Amino acid sequence: MTKFLDPLLSRIGQMRPVHALGRVCEAQADSLWLEGLNRAAALGDAVEVGVGMRAEVVRITKDRCQVLPEDRIEGLRVGDIARHLGPVSISPGMHWIGRVIDPDGAPLDGRPLYPGPAVCPLRAVPPPATARRPMGARLTTGLAVFDTLLPIVRGQRLGLFAGSGVGKSTLLSQLARGVAADVIVIGLIGERGREVRDFVEDTLGPEGLARSVVVAATSDRPALVRQRAAWAAMSVAEFFRDQGAHVLLLADSVTRFAQAHREVAVASGEPAALNGYPASMAQAVMSLCERAGPGAAGQGDITAILSVLVAGSDMEEPVADTLRGVLDGHVVLSREIAERGRFPAVDLLRSVSRSLPRAASADENRLIATARRHMGVHDRAEMMLQAGLYTDGADPAIDAALRVWPALDDFLSQGSSGPTAAFATLADCLAPGEPVAAQAEDQPAD
Ligand SMILES: Nc1ncnc2c1ncn2[C@@H]1O[C@H](COP(=O)(O)OP(=O)(O)O)[C@@H](O)[C@H]1O
Ligand SMILES: [Mg+2]
Repeated sequence: MTKFLDPLLSRIGQMRPVHALGRVCEAQADSLWLEGLNRAAALGDAVEVGVGMRAEVVRITKDRCQVLPEDRIEGLRVGDIARHLGPVSISPGMHWIGRVIDPDGAPLDGRPLYPGPAVCPLRAVPPPATARRPMGARLTTGLAVFDTLLPIVRGQRLGLFAGSGVGKSTLLSQLARGVAADVIVIGLIGERGREVRDFVEDTLGPEGLARSVVVAATSDRPALVRQRAAWAAMSVAEFFRDQGAHVLLLADSVTRFAQAHREVAVASGEPAALNGYPASMAQAVMSLCERAGPGAAGQGDITAILSVLVAGSDMEEPVADTLRGVLDGHVVLSREIAERGRFPAVDLLRSVSRSLPRAASADENRLIATARRHMGVHDRAEMMLQAGLYTDGADPAIDAALRVWPALDDFLSQGSSGPTAAFATLADCLAPGEPVAAQAEDQPAD
């Protein structure tokens, strides 16, 4: 009986009986000025203009406020009514797991969905830094490279940097299926419609979806909606975190979020700066990331993996550069590696997990250092090897790297049943047949 009334009760609970009303006093191509709302409205609040046209408050003066409409504004007249809706929020519930929703909590999978009892603001603040736990224990991920060389710990925030078509979405879905977490929240921001469908139905699959909430805003949606998709995914993750759950948040991609922010900021009059991005982009991206991470006492944690599109591996472009500063590590996928068919195409030498060395034992850290050293030597010698300029025996370090490289390269694409087994395999790759400790002892720690 209670279950039957749930949808009704949560809707009644969220009704606002009184709305401030204003009127349109000026209209331009992409923005409107309203009068009568400047005392009620706060920046970022939602407003309904005319019949059902949603808009967001971007500027407030002494007597008017400027709003950006989400839809085209043809047909709107001066004097039309505007209704103040208030701060933007989302109302998730446990029953949202397994569902695909838009940033306003409406179902995208063709089945009815009612809001949950909680009201979670879209622009929430992170737990106070001093109250937050440190990053937690190492997670099993289902992939050998992340179980060993690039560990992911509970509450860590990792960036996944790659060009398009290098395997970001596929890797995110593998992590959605493999990482040990209670709930997965996936934000698909600004992808093409077909990609979202492919991702949910094929790449993620029923097994991945069964423990996920997918929040999607495709590239054809207005910039305001695409921007909200990232916040909504974060708010849904915070809802589960506040129930004590360990949440894995996957966002694809933060670049599209930054681009949506750019469109909104420029339309509301902010000047463009770096690569056309307004100065507020860094703040928008950083405050989004800051909400992920370990929770305070009594809360769960949000482990986050955020993808970033980097054209031509340009890690200095503004979004990548901003993100690297706030993350606890970055994973770089390389087109050259993808082209020779090794997936995930992790470029180990350019990737860092700041959970190391703490997340691994001394022996494991020595194995990691050895693997990295061999990869580094191989990488530096590669041109010489390809040109046929190297003769066996000329350099013992290169000879050693050449011996272990095929097994090590293959190891990076393997699945894993957990760190212990994966480290044993890694030790085998580095010195076939020798026990882990004995092998590790003759390697200096870096
Ligand atoms: N693990 C994998 N195994 C085999 N092929 C892969 C794998 N990951 C990616 N690919 C190939 O790369 C293509 C692009 O992958 P995708 O994840 O869509 O890249 P991105 O999201 O970076 O654009 C896929 O269509 C597939 O052909
Ligand atoms: Mg993709």
